[in-house]
Amino acid sequence: MKAVILAGGSGTRLYPVTIATNKHFLPIYNKPMIYYPLSLVMLLGIKDVMFIVNPEDLKDFQKLFGDGSHLGMNVQYRIQKKPNGLAEGLILAEDFIGNDNICYMLGDNVFFGHDLIKIMDQARKDIQENGGAYVFGYAVKDPERFGVVEFDEKGNVLSLEEKPEKPKSNFAVVGMYFYDREAVDIAKKIKPSDRGELEITSVNEEYLKRGKLKVKLLGRGFAWFDAGTHDSFLEAGEFVATIEKKTGLMIGCIEEIAYKNKWITREQLLKLAKPLGKTEYGRYLIEQAEGEQI
Ligand code: G1P
Repeated sequence: MKAVILAGGSGTRLYPVTIATNKHFLPIYNKPMIYYPLSLVMLLGIKDVMFIVNPEDLKDFQKLFGDGSHLGMNVQYRIQKKPNGLAEGLILAEDFIGNDNICYMLGDNVFFGHDLIKIMDQARKDIQENGGAYVFGYAVKDPERFGVVEFDEKGNVLSLEEKPEKPKSNFAVVGMYFYDREAVDIAKKIKPSDRGELEITSVNEEYLKRGKLKVKLLGRGFAWFDAGTHDSFLEAGEFVATIEKKTGLMIGCIEEIAYKNKWITREQLLKLAKPLGKTEYGRYLIEQAEGEQI
C-alpha cells in the first residue's frame, strides 16, 4: 500500500493566519501539523508517500522532508495547481499509485486513540484482501462542517453528504480513507460540486453505489481534530500538549517512529536530533536513542 497526503488548498478558514503560510506548516503544539498524518502512515508501515502540494509550497515541503531517505522512506511530491478539491489528488497521484492500494490522508487531520493503528491496520488488510473503500465515522456536534454518513438501525450506510445544511446524522466522515486502485478512475469521472471542487465524498458515494464501501465508527475513546479552523486548530494543540506533558511521550514524532520501525539506525536518529539539540523535541529524540523511554 502507498500513501497520498493532501497538503494543498488555500486554508481560507484560517485567514489571516494562512495568507502567507501554508496551514500544514503551522504548529500543533510542538511540531508542524503535517507531521501528524505522516506519523500515522508511518505507524502503518507505509514507506512510500506522496504529498499533494501547492506550487508555492513545494520548496518548503522539500525543506521539511526532502526525499524521505533520512527517515528511511521514499517521499515524493506532486503539485496541485489550483484548489480543485480533495479528490483531484487521486488523479494527480495516478502514476505514483500504479496498481497499488491507497491510504489517503488529509494533511490537517489529527487523530489520537488507543488501538487506532490496530483499527487502521484492519482497514488496510481489508482493502488488500477485498478491495473497495474503507472510511471512518466520528460523532461530532457540528456535522454540517463535514462529510456526513447516515446509517439504518442495522448499521448499513444509507447515504453520504458533503457539508449538508440539514445533516441526517451527527457522524462526520474523518479525513483518513483507504481505497483500492479503482479510486483513481472514479475520481476521473465525478463532477465538481456546487463549490466547484471534486469532492472526496463523491468518490465515497460511488463506492457506496457499487456496494463496496465499508464504514467503521470511531467510538468515544478517540480524539479527532480537523485543524482547519481557528478553534479546532487551538483545541488540537492543547490536546497534544496535555497528553504529551502527562505521559512524557510524543504524538506524531516522525523521527521516533522511523527509529522504532527500524527504518533508521540509532546513529541516524542522533544525527537528526543534533540540529534540534536544545529543544524539548531534540532532547526527546536523544532519549529515544539512549533507550530511556519505552
Ligand atoms: C474535508 C472533506 C469532508 C471531511 C473533512 C474531514 O472537508 O470534504 O468530507 O469530513 O475533510 O476533515 P474540508 O476540510 O475540505 O472542508
